[in-house]
Amino acid sequence: METTFKKLIKEKIPERIIITGCGTSWHAGLIGKYIIEDILKIPVEVEYASELRYRKPVLNKKTILIAISQSGETADTIGVIRELKGKCKIYSICNVEKSTIARESDFVLFTQAGPEIGVASTKSFTSQILILYLFSLSFLFKKGELKKEIFYKRCYEVLKVKEKMESFFQKNNIEEIADILINKTNALYLGKGINFPVALEGALKLKEVSYIHAEGYPSAEMKHGPIALIDENMPVIFICMEDRHLKKVISNMEEVKTRKGYIISICDFISDEIKRLSNKILSVPHIENEYLKPLLSSLPLQLLAYYVAKKKGLDVDKPRNLAKSVTVE
Ligand code: G6P
Repeated sequence: METTFKKLIKEKIPERIIITGCGTSWHAGLIGKYIIEDILKIPVEVEYASELRYRKPVLNKKTILIAISQSGETADTIGVIRELKGKCKIYSICNVEKSTIARESDFVLFTQAGPEIGVASTKSFTSQILILYLFSLSFLFKKGELKKEIFYKRCYEVLKVKEKMESFFQKNNIEEIADILINKTNALYLGKGINFPVALEGALKLKEVSYIHAEGYPSAEMKHGPIALIDENMPVIFICMEDRHLKKVISNMEEVKTRKGYIISICDFISDEIKRLSNKILSVPHIENEYLKPLLSSLPLQLLAYYVAKKKGLDVDKPRNLAKSVTVE
């Protein structure tokens, strides 16, 4: 990994980035947009591979494409790479070393998450986020805007996340919350800022493995439609982390509470207000660095989908109609 990042800082700093992927990898790309734009101040667009491959994006040599794929074999993502090859530099973030995407890219960052057995992507999601963060730090370092000591400090924080994740696995109340969801037919996942794509991913996981219809939305956008669905039968899962958006998210929780929605809060900070508004709280370890928070907030969402599926007697590893890698259009 270290050598890859040493190679990366020899690369030219792009002026514009297009990220592409499908499913969970696309969600990681959305998180990457927040991280890269915030840290590097480079504009980032995130596109579904199935759409981008049939468009004619405006490109130049200062644009790079980052294709994200766990398997490295997703047909639409390969389609984009083949379409854009030669028109801009192609980077990929891949988990499988001997894969088509890794082979056909100009520069590969391997997630090294180990083989993923279950169809629904889990550990590669968190690894993809981590790579996007390290990508941003590496270029910030190259730009001369990050001192070596701070760079090492940030890398040390990343190592700390592992301990926090382990502590979460040892103690949590997810099974109790899964019991609430098993008989539901719908769920709404809400988050703001970097937590919006986390909400999208939480909803996708629930759909994929437990066959409950779930939607992810930016929390403030809820009032433009989904609010009509809220009553005492609608579980609303808020990703409510201690960050610059907390106050706004709490006011969205008030709106749901007023309409008698059943609030499940995923948070790394519990205030009296959060206690008052939430029917259930799922607390995750706190980390100061907001770019690393999705690594912790996505864990309970993955586990929640897992326990709901298990309690419903479903095959968590092989959900119906889904394939680990979609090699056809
Ligand atoms: C399939 C899987 C998803 C995955 C998506 C993209 O739909 O079921 O879990 O996120 O493909 O796969 P990739 O291997 O390109 O990340």
